[in-house]
Amino acid sequence: MKAIFTKDQTEAESLKEVLRLSDQLTEEVLSSDLLVIASPMWNFGLPSSLKAWDDHIVRPGKTFRYAGDGVEGRARGKKAILVLASGGVFSEGPWKSWDTVEPYLRLILGFIGITEVQTARAEGMNIPALTPYAIPAAERAIETLAI
Ligand SMILES: Cc1cc2nc3c(=O)[nH]c(=O)nc-3n(C[C@H](O)[C@H](O)[C@H](O)COP(=O)(O)O)c2cc1C
Repeated sequence: MKAIFTKDQTEAESLKEVLRLSDQLTEEVLSSDLLVIASPMWNFGLPSSLKAWDDHIVRPGKTFRYAGDGVEGRARGKKAILVLASGGVFSEGPWKSWDTVEPYLRLILGFIGITEVQTARAEGMNIPALTPYAIPAAERAIETLAI
């Protein structure tokens, strides 16, 4: 006798593992009042590990739901702080539009209902003339955050 699976058993097991992790990460977000996301810029965007976290926590029926003619974030009433490090300067100047980190994180957080988002940047980390000022500027920005 031969058992027939619609999915390969190994694949089904690994999907269960992924779902368990996703449930855990999603629960962490839903039970928090404040999210602090610290990230470097890699190739003008997020490191793939942070993108993977996004993919785990943006969950229909949990952190957002399809409603009426659109979608509704379900992680409302929370705050988020982005602590972003980059070699160059992206908060202003000619490279501003090259930054996909902050706009993307704000988009994802907004999508799940978190719109109170503040940013502190350590930027210019790799530009010799700016390096000495990058961390002090970030520390000052952190001091002005409204938590
Ligand atoms: C793989 C890699 C890619 C990077 N890409 C960029 C980039 O696109 N733009 C930039 O300004 N800095 C870039 N950097 C520099 C980092 O953002 C910068 O060094 C930052 O301070 C790293 O933060 P950390 O020290 O917390 O890891 C890159 C660094 C690495 C290792």
